[in-house]
Amino acid sequence: MPRTRKIIIDTDPGQDDAVAILTALASDTLDVLGITAVAGNVPLALTERNSRMICELAGRADIRVFAGCDRPLRRQLVTAEEVHGRTGLDGPDLPPPGMPLQSQHAVDFIIDTIRGEAEGEVTICALGPLTNLAAAIERDRTILSRIREIVLMGGAYFEAGNVTPAAEFNIYVDPHAAAIVFACGAPVTVMPLDVTHKALTSPERIEAFRSIGNPVGDAVAKLTAFFERFDVEKYGIGGAPLHDPCVIAYLLQPELFSGRSVNVEIETSSELTMGMTVADWWRVTDRKPNAMFMNDIDDTGYFSLLTRKLALF
Ligand code: RIB
Ligand code: CA
Repeated sequence: MPRTRKIIIDTDPGQDDAVAILTALASDTLDVLGITAVAGNVPLALTERNSRMICELAGRADIRVFAGCDRPLRRQLVTAEEVHGRTGLDGPDLPPPGMPLQSQHAVDFIIDTIRGEAEGEVTICALGPLTNLAAAIERDRTILSRIREIVLMGGAYFEAGNVTPAAEFNIYVDPHAAAIVFACGAPVTVMPLDVTHKALTSPERIEAFRSIGNPVGDAVAKLTAFFERFDVEKYGIGGAPLHDPCVIAYLLQPELFSGRSVNVEIETSSELTMGMTVADWWRVTDRKPNAMFMNDIDDTGYFSLLTRKLALF
């Protein structure tokens, strides 16, 4: 049995976040120490509620869920109900949560957990705006040398933005938080739109989820079918990019992905390009590489991995 990898999932569910969380909870090589909710796709009161509903769908009411920051560090919150629906988890009809929300603030949980675990043990899986993680770094920079890796979904370089022409949603919502994370010095691995736009749902792939024949597969088919309609209309393509599970898939099967270690800076001044991830892909500056910026995926292998994992429930 390979050694389990200890992770904290920071998230703004979100249908694609839900698939990522379910995939992690299905994997016996991942030890989910806790789930920290952040405001993003929908307000915090819904992202923390959705996080608990997803855990209970997985039969994991034992997982500790924490509420974190309800707004970005400096900017007003921007949400995405047009993509995810009013609840953020539209699609299946899931029961309201019965499990409790933890009373500790998510930022304190992140700090305490990283300090409490052995050095280099904890991986942060960031699936939404980086507000919680940036707040933890700002409050206690000693955690930086103790983090094994930060794996985040966010940004775009060869792909245009999905919330402005220049910016991807997670980075755009809190560009100041993103700037802190990309400059923090801990190992950062990025799953940008350059990767996720190559990981598209399709009727066959959604049917494969439904054909699993368990409640999780049925819910995931409904989640992805709901999530897909917005991008199909917006981009005129056959399916929707299944963004966030790329973060978990990378931990489970890194060979599905390829990219390059480059410098990434975040635009935090110009409103025109606010939240842009300026990746020095061709190393035309002397800026030090600070991120493994992924730009390709074996999408067939990716969906096969997700389907295999979700069938384990
Ligand atoms: O741009 C895609 C990202 O924004 C995903 O994490 C999605 O869940 C939303 O948070
Ligand atoms: Ca998300």
